[in-house]
Amino acid sequence: MKRVLLIEDLPQVAQHLQSMLAREKEIEVAGVQSDPAAAVAQIATEKPDIVMLDGFLGGKQDFSVALDVAKRIRAASAGTRIIVVTVPQKGLDPKAEATVDAVFVLPGGANELAQVLGVGKAARPQNGLMIAVYSPKGGTGKTTLAVNLATVLRRQGKSVALMDGVMQFGSVRHVLQVPPATRSFVDLPTAGAMRTSLAEVLWEGPSGVHVLLAPGKAEEVDLIQGGDIGNAMSMLAESHDYVIVDTPSRLTEDALAILDAANLILMIVTYMNATVAQARSAIDTFEALGYKGQKPILLVVNQADTASGMSKNAVEHALNLPIIGEIPTDWKTVSDSLNKQQPFVIGAPQSPISRSVEALAHGLVTQQRK
Ligand SMILES: Nc1ncnc2c1ncn2[C@@H]1O[C@H](COP(=O)(O)OP(=O)(O)OP(=O)(O)O)[C@@H](O)[C@H]1O
Ligand SMILES: [Mg+2]
Repeated sequence: MKRVLLIEDLPQVAQHLQSMLAREKEIEVAGVQSDPAAAVAQIATEKPDIVMLDGFLGGKQDFSVALDVAKRIRAASAGTRIIVVTVPQKGLDPKAEATVDAVFVLPGGANELAQVLGVGKAARPQNGLMIAVYSPKGGTGKTTLAVNLATVLRRQGKSVALMDGVMQFGSVRHVLQVPPATRSFVDLPTAGAMRTSLAEVLWEGPSGVHVLLAPGKAEEVDLIQGGDIGNAMSMLAESHDYVIVDTPSRLTEDALAILDAANLILMIVTYMNATVAQARSAIDTFEALGYKGQKPILLVVNQADTASGMSKNAVEHALNLPIIGEIPTDWKTVSDSLNKQQPFVIGAPQSPISRSVEALAHGLVTQQRK
């Protein structure tokens, strides 16, 4: 066990880091301090193995306060490893700073965190790919594509978890034949204890896709916290090759938790100007969140055969992102599938729309190898 003390004065960031640390088996959180003086005093007496230090303590735009605190930590406990937490826009070279052993860049993944903490290299389970199926516009086909993509990947022999991330009024349960009393996200304990119950809460869906449902009652959404959502995704990724998440359009805390945790965002658009413009502003938001260069965003055009003014080139150019799949319109196949509560890739595997989802899955698998 390594003991970690967190020095962080922004409660949201502290909570995010704490829930990440809670998932590390070899790590114990020795405390969270927002006040540097109190932190240094605790370090002097307890000599924790590791300190994670907010690079921008005191609301600073630079590392001045943090580096000064790092110096005091070094003096108080020479053996404590000092990790400075930063964001992609503000780089810090640990080699250039005698008092900094490593840098952790937010939002950061579990693997990056384990690396800077120096834990779990050999024991770390192989991690699956977490894909957020997202669109800033409602009704573009997120749920339809998430469900069918998960099913296709499963039929290609991958282990797949499908999570309904639309915690209020999630529709995965209606699209599939889910028995009424099936357990959902609210039946999971929070934080680290989640791991033990995860398997019991998953519902075995079509072709053996493991489905983590959103709550069945609208009011239950209040019981769920963003930290739990990211936790659940990472834990699912420990035991599945793919974790596909149907993501809400509004960038609420839930949606941001999903997007933060995801390794890849599949952005659903159409060839309509308005949809593309909304996608543009979502991408700008993602850049502000530090996703650029960290988290690939790939475009999927739904109803791609409906001529709506924009060409493939124009969309790729406007969003500066590649299109990896084009899904045709097929009202009959899609509505049959909804009526039967069965993914169309099972009910109508030969139809062009099913073929297009297969091609998308193939594109993703190839992309992942790169
Ligand atoms: N390629 C398609 N051809 C025909 N119908 C489609 C196609 N894609 C989606 N639909 C239909 O369009 C409607 C919206 O799709 P879906 O529910 O998947 O969108 P969504 O993005 O999840 O919506 P919301 O934002 O409300 O969650 C559904 O009735 C679905 O059956
Ligand atoms: Mg939906």
